[in-house]
Amino acid sequence: MIKVAFVGCGGIQAVHQKNVSKLDRVKIVGHCDILPDRAEARAAQYGGEAFTEFEAMYDKAKPHAVFIAVPPYAHVGMEEAAAQRGIHLFIEKPIAIDYDMAKRIAAAIQSAKIVCSVAYCFRYYDTVALARKILKGKAVSLITGTWNGGMPGVWWWRQMDKSGGQIVEQTTHMFDLARYLCGDVAEVHSVASTGCMTKVENFDVHDSSVVSLRMKSGAISSFTSSCVANNGAHVGLQIITPEATMRFQGGKLTVIEDGRTTEYSSKVDMYAEESRVFIDAVRSGKKNKIRSSYADALKTFLVTWAANESIRTGMPVKP
Ligand SMILES: NC(=O)c1ccc[n+]([C@@H]2O[C@H](COP(=O)([O-])OP(=O)(O)OC[C@H]3O[C@@H](n4cnc5c(N)ncnc54)[C@H](O)[C@@H]3O)[C@@H](O)[C@H]2O)c1
Repeated sequence: MIKVAFVGCGGIQAVHQKNVSKLDRVKIVGHCDILPDRAEARAAQYGGEAFTEFEAMYDKAKPHAVFIAVPPYAHVGMEEAAAQRGIHLFIEKPIAIDYDMAKRIAAAIQSAKIVCSVAYCFRYYDTVALARKILKGKAVSLITGTWNGGMPGVWWWRQMDKSGGQIVEQTTHMFDLARYLCGDVAEVHSVASTGCMTKVENFDVHDSSVVSLRMKSGAISSFTSSCVANNGAHVGLQIITPEATMRFQGGKLTVIEDGRTTEYSSKVDMYAEESRVFIDAVRSGKKNKIRSSYADALKTFLVTWAANESIRTGMPVKP
């Protein structure tokens, strides 16, 4: 029986709690949130005890694994405290709010030799696995990614020192997918706009941004992000090779080659799959099915961090 606990009982954690509760030979033992009502409500729904302090939960409920889903600024020691106790970690993206925080957590995880999975959930789509197969051996020329939508409702999202802004918090999924499918990033150059959200209180993130990447392979890429796109939201990734153009949106992969367009729909619930793979890895001790380790997620974080640095300085930045 794998004993599981949760730190943060907000929006996305509800998805993880539901998925974990459906897995065999798993017992939910604890829920922690600084807002006691939230932890208590989840304990009433899924069983286990409610806590407001993660260390108290680790020591009393003694979980084998913990799911961490707190805002980027709030990674205040829960990973290190778990790693010190040999508790395995599932961590929501983005992994941190700044480089020092991410490096500190990475070191704790590495020395504890625990299983750790970062929730870059798109990697778990079967269509992404197919895209990787199709891309094998092909030279990629251009990658374009988009995360254009409205502003998320959670209070912390609109504050740069709490969320890191849209590039770090949201478009990170598309940067990560580009890395997963097309390799690492050599250089980042970005610009951003402000001024359309003056009526929103406490708003100091960018309204929109454009990020150019030079990939280590020689390919180039461009990512747009906007949180003012209240109409016509669009999230997706396109990869162009001489042999094929591939478009990825909402789990659906479209491949255009030799004048033919083929659409592949995903048969996988990415959230259910990432939880299942993590719990299986905790049970077996084998990490090879985990698609995003902390060390790999750190590379994606550094790309998004470099994008913000480039906006600030006006200069290209190496991640
Ligand atoms: N992978 C995805 O598709 C996806 C989707 C949504 C959110 N997320 C990520 O998940 C994280 C959480 O997002 P959310 O939308 O669930 O936010 P949320 O605000 O709904 O929930 C966060 C919860 O964490 C709690 N919290 C804050 N500090 C804490 C602490 N020190 N100890 C315990 N609890 C604490 C808050 O009280 C809140 O209940 C973010 O990093 C976000 O980027 C990922």
